[in-house]
Amino acid sequence: MSTMCEDHDVLVIGSGAAGLTAALSLARKLKVLVLAKGKLDSGSTAWAQGGIAAVLDAGDTFDDHIRDTMIAGAGLNDRETVEFVIERAPAAIDRLCELGVPFNRDSGDLHLTREGGHSHRRIVHVDDATGWAVQAALLKAAEENPNITLLPHQSCIDLITGRHEEKYSASGRVWGAYALDERTGEVKAHVARATVMAAGGAGRVYQFSTAPRGATGDGIAMAWRAGARVSNMEMMQFHPTCLYNLEVKNFLITEAVRGEGGHLLHPETGHRFMADYDPERMELAPRDVVARAIDDQIKRYGLDYVHLDISHQPPEFVREHFPTIHEKLIGLGIDMTTQPIPVVPAQHYTCGGIVIGLDASTDLPGLWAAGECTESGLHGANRLASNSLLECFVFGEAAAQDILCKWDSFDAPPTVREWDESRVTDSDEEVVIKQNWTEIRRFMWNYVGIVRTTKRLERASHRIKLLGEEIEDYYGHFRVTTDLIELRNLHQCAQLIVESALRRHESRGLHYTLDYPALAEAPVDTVLVP
Ligand code: FAD
Ligand code: SIN
Repeated sequence: MSTMCEDHDVLVIGSGAAGLTAALSLARKLKVLVLAKGKLDSGSTAWAQGGIAAVLDAGDTFDDHIRDTMIAGAGLNDRETVEFVIERAPAAIDRLCELGVPFNRDSGDLHLTREGGHSHRRIVHVDDATGWAVQAALLKAAEENPNITLLPHQSCIDLITGRHEEKYSASGRVWGAYALDERTGEVKAHVARATVMAAGGAGRVYQFSTAPRGATGDGIAMAWRAGARVSNMEMMQFHPTCLYNLEVKNFLITEAVRGEGGHLLHPETGHRFMADYDPERMELAPRDVVARAIDDQIKRYGLDYVHLDISHQPPEFVREHFPTIHEKLIGLGIDMTTQPIPVVPAQHYTCGGIVIGLDASTDLPGLWAAGECTESGLHGANRLASNSLLECFVFGEAAAQDILCKWDSFDAPPTVREWDESRVTDSDEEVVIKQNWTEIRRFMWNYVGIVRTTKRLERASHRIKLLGEEIEDYYGHFRVTTDLIELRNLHQCAQLIVESALRRHESRGLHYTLDYPALAEAPVDTVLVP
């Protein structure tokens, strides 16, 4: 069954930091529909721990934050974008304070913590659960806004473009999206004059990831299929310290633990091994450096994990700074005030994505994008800690401003075709989805992980081709489900990551390959054109 709805001006796909920032700003003048897969707070935003980077301390400067961002990004960042975002950070924090986010304070001033790669304390936070507080404040404001309709449990399948118009056109103009209602199985065409893609990252393409279940790169894949360029997809960030636990597989131990003095130790000898890799910055080196060091220790000594130890700090300091992590670990039998925490690296953030400009516009007229599904030029070859939520606020706002500014020039949407289910049936082989999903995530972890080789990338590429035929065949014959939508998108993202990685003949930032260990002279983006 399929129907069409059109009682809003703008469609926002995603209810995380980027989507809700755009929606709240757009709602000053327009009617906004926000669609989210699963629950409204099921994206990465709610899971963010460390905080948001902003220059707020008298001793800190924009220039320092810009320099730290460019150093972490190994020079692949776009300097104009970096300046654009960092200079807007204090205003973004002010807006969040106005929305009631209860940031930690020290005698009235915002408390600033420190994370790897930052030369100053500049991370505003709400204990060690910043994302939860930010998500709650944004959702409350959106729920109270009469111009915003929030619709959870909607899995967008594809963007609506000219080829879906009743009278076929080759135009790439975007007019909204088709979405599956997860509860009724109905597919609706949500038509809109402007669409903002804010569907988050693709972390779940890897077997081990700190990202939530729904981070399957849907936004990147939808935009790519509709004709938008994507860039730097090989730049997948691995967080150095994910809890190693056989039952709890994706619990992050915030970088702020290292920022507040935590040491990384060999679990048997107690050696503080960062001295062997980056003696100056030690545990506060950028993430790619620390993750590679841990990976090297694990492989070199046949370890399952390394230790992160902050037990030399006073117990009340640890409990006060990390209440959420402390409580979670106590539940697992680890007291971080007296014991080290076993940790391993895990995929954490998608630096690449849909190419956008400073106004958050994409290659496709009618489509804007913001947040983790984009490649804005901010992160380059590696994201500096706590710059990601910031990017969501700045580009969510930029998208809204650009849409509001151009609104009067937009045509009314055409009549579009309804979702066609005439040639599909219900699947009798759901096992195929599970099998392919597991296979992709496993070979991406083993062949396209922290340290790469051309041979392993080619192996992955070969498997992606074979799976592609199977998935498209399945998609062509069976009614869509959220699992199938996600599998198709995971596969698409895996292909984009591997193709990008094969094209980069150097080691830069997060892309480290034994076949090209040196840095190329000039930093160049890997841009894929559909
Ligand atoms: P998300 O918050 O992931 O939201 C995506 C939205 O899109 C969701 O609403 C989802 O339901 C929806 N969606 C997805 N697919 C579809 C579809 N097909 N149809 C409809 N809707 C869809 N960054 C920092 O700056 N500081 C931190 O301290 C920090 N800590 C982190 C800790 C963890 C454990 C993780 C995983 C990430 C952390 N990050 C941090 C990164 C940061 O949280 C994310 O990059 C950021 O929240 C992304 O926001 P977003 O709005 O782009 O996407
Ligand atoms: C963390 O708290 O370590 C995550 C911060 C980030 O991803 O920016």
